Amino acid sequence: LTWSKLCSHRKVVIVADSNTLESCFPLLAEAHPDFSECEIIEVEPGEDSKSWSIAESIIQRLLEINADKHTLIVALGGGMITDLVGFVAAIYKRGGPCVLMPTSLLAMVDAAIGGKTALNIQSIKNAVGTITEPEAVLIYPAFLHTLPLEERHSGLGEMLKHAILDDERTWKELLNDWNDETKQIGLIRHSAEFKAKIVEADLLEHHLRQQLNIGHTFGHAIESASFSMKEGIAHGKAVALGLMIEATLVVQLGKAPSLFAESIRDGILHLIPLPKAVPSFDELLPYLRNDKKNQGDTIRFSLATGFGAFELGVEIQENDLRKAYNTEIQQLFSKKL
Ligand SMILES: NC(=O)c1ccc[n+]([C@@H]2O[C@H](COP(=O)([O-])OP(=O)(O)OC[C@H]3O[C@@H](n4cnc5c(N)ncnc54)[C@H](O)[C@@H]3O)[C@@H](O)[C@H]2O)c1
Repeated sequence: LTWSKLCSHRKVVIVADSNTLESCFPLLAEAHPDFSECEIIEVEPGEDSKSWSIAESIIQRLLEINADKHTLIVALGGGMITDLVGFVAAIYKRGGPCVLMPTSLLAMVDAAIGGKTALNIQSIKNAVGTITEPEAVLIYPAFLHTLPLEERHSGLGEMLKHAILDDERTWKELLNDWNDETKQIGLIRHSAEFKAKIVEADLLEHHLRQQLNIGHTFGHAIESASFSMKEGIAHGKAVALGLMIEATLVVQLGKAPSLFAESIRDGILHLIPLPKAVPSFDELLPYLRNDKKNQGDTIRFSLATGFGAFELGVEIQENDLRKAYNTEIQQLFSKKL
């Protein structure tokens, strides 16, 4: 699939945030001079832009420039941009063509894959959205050169998750090869293709796609509870912690040998540094209770029970969660000291 083929005979509009416009757009304009001719819509970086008001301002601009049903809308940015622009493209003139060009590691292996688009409403993340697959996802790893380290960890958290779900060989390859830049492209491709394969089997998340939630029940709770701490815990680190805590949980439940939790812990610590402090279990509890996978009062998990093995919709008692959380956090921080 070439860029000129994608753009032929239609107007192209690029939407980017100011960081990706500054760092990534020049690489594209250099590689494909046609890009310099495109209409560009710039939004502020940050999660606050994934909102109705910004979506509406993009739509207003599209109307002003007479964008029609065939206009190609291109998202050039991280997951915030791919979610926002994917959403706008899904509803503008009842849905038109969209191409995603993810620029963050997280967007390359996760957010841009699988057709989920979203906006946040007030403080509710992804309160509205669609599942609308783009025409194409174009991944240029060269964009990663300007990505801040913290953002890399965010993407790595998701790559580690995919590797656990895939198999032990993928897990070992990721740990051994990630720091070799020549091998990163292959690892990114493998991770993105892994997610694409699962999505293809279950686009609407009836069953198989739910495996992608491993690490996220604890991860989201840790990320959300950390907003009120002195130093918040970024998404990737929170997911990495979630994967380690959930591995300890499955060992405690007798669903995996203790070697599994040890491999997960050692592997993750090899690639992602721990936060300085974490919330207490009681601070997490309201977020765990509100997780999207719950039904009624029970807390439900997607859990990896080994490399390449998982269980879905597992109901877990609160005291088992407390025990796993406290055990793992104690292990991690005593290891660190
Ligand atoms: N749709 C999905 O399936 C899905 C899955 C996971 C996450 N998400 C969403 O993705 C979002 C998080 O994505 P993210 O972590 O990419 O955040 P982001 O898009 O906010 O990007 C993080 C920061 O990195 C900057 N940036 C991105 N690429 C850069 C580059 N190449 N050089 C320099 N700076 C760059 C951005 O401007 C931003 O400041 C959240 O909104 C989340 O809900 C969606």
